[in-house]
Formats: sequence, C-alpha cells, structure tokens
Amino acid sequence: MGIDVRDVKKSYVSKEGFRKRRVIEALKGVTFSVARGEVHALLGPNGAGKTTLVKILATLLLPDSGSAYVEGFDVVSQANEVRKIIGVALDVSKGFYSSLTGFENLVFYALLKGFSYSDARRRAREVLELVGLWDMEAHNRPYYTYSLGMRARLSIAKALLTDPRVLLLDEPTLGLDVESSRMVRKLIVDLAKEGRTILVTGHNMYEIEQIATSISIINAGRIVASGKPQELKQRLGLLHKVSIRVSNNARQLLDEIAKKLSIASTAVEDLGDVQRITMYAKAGREEIVQAILEAVNTVGARILDLAVEEPTLEDAYLAVVGGKSA
Ligand SMILES: Nc1ncnc2c1ncn2[C@@H]1O[C@H](COP(=O)(O)OP(=O)(O)OP(=O)(O)O)[C@@H](O)[C@H]1O
Ligand SMILES: [Mg+2]
Repeated sequence: MGIDVRDVKKSYVSKEGFRKRRVIEALKGVTFSVARGEVHALLGPNGAGKTTLVKILATLLLPDSGSAYVEGFDVVSQANEVRKIIGVALDVSKGFYSSLTGFENLVFYALLKGFSYSDARRRAREVLELVGLWDMEAHNRPYYTYSLGMRARLSIAKALLTDPRVLLLDEPTLGLDVESSRMVRKLIVDLAKEGRTILVTGHNMYEIEQIATSISIINAGRIVASGKPQELKQRLGLLHKVSIRVSNNARQLLDEIAKKLSIASTAVEDLGDVQRITMYAKAGREEIVQAILEAVNTVGARILDLAVEEPTLEDAYLAVVGGKSA
C-alpha cells in the first residue's frame, strides 16, 4: 500500500482574544488508502481538511488520534523513514530564496538533504530538466523573476530532489494558466508512470479527471466518497444526459423510451422540421442506446442525431459535496 490513513483526527485550537479559545475540528476521522503507483486525487472544497491531511502525511503535523502510513512506515513513530521516501510540495509559491536562481535554490536544498556539492549540482540540473525549467534558462534567473507557472514547477523539482517514491502535492496547479497547468498535469502523469505513488489535492474536477487513477472526496473533515473515477460516478447513480434529434414523432418516441428507461427530466424542443429531445436517464450507456433504438423502431421515428453524455466528475463531486464550502 502506498498510503494508508486510518481514522485520523486533528483539531486546531485558535486563540481568540484573552483566554478565549476555539477548537476547529479539521479532520473528524479520515480513512482512505492509496495503492502503489496510483495518482490519487484528494478533492474537496475550501476548508475541507486537504492541507491538514497532506501535512500529517508529510510528518509536518501530528495527528491527534488514528494512524497513517506511507509505504508501511508510521508517520508518527517512523517519521524519519517517511521523510526519506517522500517528496512534498505544499505551498508552491513559498520556500525559495528570491534573489537566488532556481538552480541555486535547488542546490541549497540538495545540500541540506545531505548531497555532496557535486551531487547536489548534478541532481539540481536533473530535476530542472525533468520539470522543463532547464530549457527555459531558468537556472540562471533569480527566483523573483519567475512566473507562477515556473514557481510551481520549481516547487515540484524541489520535491523530486531525493527521487522520492511517494509525492505529496498540495494544489500544484493553483493559480496557473491553462498551458502551465497542463504541463504540470503531464508532469504528474509522467512521474506516476515511473512507478511513484502520487497524492494530489485540488478542486478543479476537469483537471483531476484527466490525471487521477483514484479519488477521495473530502468534505468538512470527512471522506464522503472514494474510488476509481468511473466507479464513483456509477456508485452515485448519476444520470446520463441524452440528446436526440428526430424529424418526426418526437412525443411518441419519448413515451416509448420512458416505458423502457427510468428518466428524470425531459424536454422536447421544436426546431421547425426537426425536434430535439433532451432527457436525463438513470441507466448504463448501452442500455440507454438499446432502449432508444428499440423505441425508434416501434414508433417509426427518423433519427438525425443521438448523443449520450457521460456524467462528469464534477457531477459526482456536486452530488456528494453539494457546493458547500467553509
Ligand atoms: N493553523 C490553523 N489554526 C486554526 N485553524 C486552522 C489552521 N489551519 C487550518 N485550520 C482550519 O482547519 C480546517 C481545514 O483546513 P485545511 O487548510 O486543511 O483545508 P483545505 O481543504 O486545505 O482548504 P483549502 O482548499 O482552502 O486549501 C479549516 O476550517 C481551517 O480554517
Ligand atoms: Mg489547502
């Protein structure tokens, strides 16, 4: 198992004025696991507890109770072992010296990790090449001249210095433009292909859907759904959106389909010679197409176009989180 988290609880105590304290339960008993080699997305709205969980796995924060293991090592009692096998990128725009170049920053961190000077320089160059910063001559530029996209990549480069088997990336594409976030996503997929286990947090479903092999959705300190993206959508019984364009008998067709499928909402639009049926059906894709074809035969409709849209991960997310955020 790459990552195994069992009933982890964590509260913060914040001081609000003289003697007044407030307890915030950030994690209320979180359990989930990530198999080796997976890109696991931890999704949730603001304040859900994502960063808290990443910090616990990164041995930067102690859980109040429960246990967490990274490749079998306990994050509390074997923190040193855990640190040897993880790479962490927490706040992508923090942790670098602004007047040093990207290269110098990485050499500095590599030296802290115990590399010799020549190994530190070699490894810094390797990871800069890996994240595509070497080509951009970035190693010669001071960090303060870096764009946000370059900073995000440098932050991943830093996490890769020790060639970690497990990567913990907290919102690695936060604030990045379309192209930069695409590059970071590709990087994550490539890093996973090398056999690493990657935990990545975020809330952009479109992005996550493209890279995650498994997903947990966290809300208000609890995991509310977990599984492969496809399973998750199926388990939640999400509806397919179906659009049909026909040149005749739209109403009869709809009635006939309704006999075969469980349909949520429907609409028929008149577009002159053509009619468009839109409906939401709770069934598998094949079952839907089969039912429509049979109905077409029965009523003798002439179909011009047919589209069955898969529910998106966003639909799944909204089904369990429902747009709530702290
Ligand atoms: N140092 C702290 N002191 C007090 N409360 C905190 C602290 N850090 C986080 N919290 C609270 O704990 C809860 C979980 O926060 P956390 O940062 O883990 O959420 P998150 O899912 O990472 O959110 P975001 O998407 O905004 O980054 C929130 O209610 C937050 O306000
Ligand atoms: Mg966070």
